[in-house]
Amino acid sequence: MDLMDKLVGLCLNRGFIYPSSEIYGGIAGFWDYGPLGVELRNNLKAAWWQAMVRERDDVVGLDSSIIANPQTWVASGHVANFHDPMVDCRCCKRRFRADQIDPDDACSEAPGGEHDFTEPRQFNLMLKTRIGPAEDSSSDAYLRAETCQSIFLDFKRVMTSARQKPPFGIAQVGKAFRNEITPRNFIFRSREFEQMEMEYFVHPDEGLERFEAWRETRMGWLRGIGLAESKLRWHEHGPDELAHYAKVAYDIEFEFGFGWQELEGIHHRGDHDLRSHTEHSGKDQSYTDPDTKQRYTPHVVETSIGVDRCLLALLTSAYHQDEVGGDKRTLLRLSPRMAPFSAAVLPLSKKLSEPAQRIAADLRRRLNVDFDASGSIGRRYRRHDEIGTPLCVTYDFDSQEDRKVTVRDRDTTEQERVAVDGLRDYIEERVLGP
Ligand code: GAP
Repeated sequence: MDLMDKLVGLCLNRGFIYPSSEIYGGIAGFWDYGPLGVELRNNLKAAWWQAMVRERDDVVGLDSSIIANPQTWVASGHVANFHDPMVDCRCCKRRFRADQIDPDDACSEAPGGEHDFTEPRQFNLMLKTRIGPAEDSSSDAYLRAETCQSIFLDFKRVMTSARQKPPFGIAQVGKAFRNEITPRNFIFRSREFEQMEMEYFVHPDEGLERFEAWRETRMGWLRGIGLAESKLRWHEHGPDELAHYAKVAYDIEFEFGFGWQELEGIHHRGDHDLRSHTEHSGKDQSYTDPDTKQRYTPHVVETSIGVDRCLLALLTSAYHQDEVGGDKRTLLRLSPRMAPFSAAVLPLSKKLSEPAQRIAADLRRRLNVDFDASGSIGRRYRRHDEIGTPLCVTYDFDSQEDRKVTVRDRDTTEQERVAVDGLRDYIEERVLGP
């Protein structure tokens, strides 16, 4: 079984990720996050928000609506340019993205297995919906294809109300929708996904310098959340790859189970967005520096990463199999900040449940902690290794006498006796840092 099959199996069986509306056969490109998936996802988003907004003086947050005035997408260039080339096979009737055809994919109908493709047609990736009772095109609207457009629309309001001025950034985490022709590779390319985007507004002369600084910051963050350095690399967009809005762009690529692919985009968008929204709305989006009196349309450096794609990278990096005492085990070496449970409290016997539960309740005041009393202690350790719980706390018969518990480390399997009185500090320091 290859890595992706193992990961998909683990995610399904252990409650990380399920196909959406599975009892009706699912729906391609849509996924549900189960009890562990939602915890991992929330930890990931919180870590991004912490680093990108809370720890900085020069970045503030936003949570905008998913549907905006449709003119937004005309101005952004998405109505005219957000296309992928699509072909259909005349024999098997399947549809493909023309630039991503797998040479090993055989036609199920043609005798030689060779597809008979139509000429490529441009297919717009925006998902349309209707607002209000009218059935004509006046009610057409789009589900946002990227979260950043509302950041541009709210640029002036945010700048004024947050008492910011360039250079400063606006960050947002939220859902985006794309009618992908071929959603694939589990949650890597979906039709509904979530983005964590930050748009940094700068004086035009500062654009490239800030672009370089953000590249470094973002690569550092990805390493910091536990992605293996050997699985991260840069890819600079050539002229034929640049999105319609970008002046310069780099992808941070990650080596997924199916090869190197884009994980995050760092884009120098120039003044494309603010200038275009000025033209289409008739509302001036330029800025006048109060000190120099210079008026300019800020340039934008963007950092954009998909929550789902980043979560898949985390799982890929964390997945390990090893042997402990002659037994094979599967473990997720997630960083303690990312792990769905920070710790699990395990009473050695069900008779010890009551005092163990009191310990779990105390730890739960600040951390997500599981209480698990069923099965042998070895099986419980394996269960928690498999879902990435960094620490298991065992309450045994001696604990009643010496007021100590055994804390076992997921990665090393080493065990340590720790006083119950200092346990909360001990675990918080191991999970949240000093
Ligand atoms: N605002 C710029 C923008 O949206 P993008 O390169 O199209 O740029 C940014 O997307 C990031 O969003 C990607 O690097 C990826 O992590 C994520 N992403 C894009 N399309 C996706 C999809 N169909 N499914 C999951 N994640 C996606």
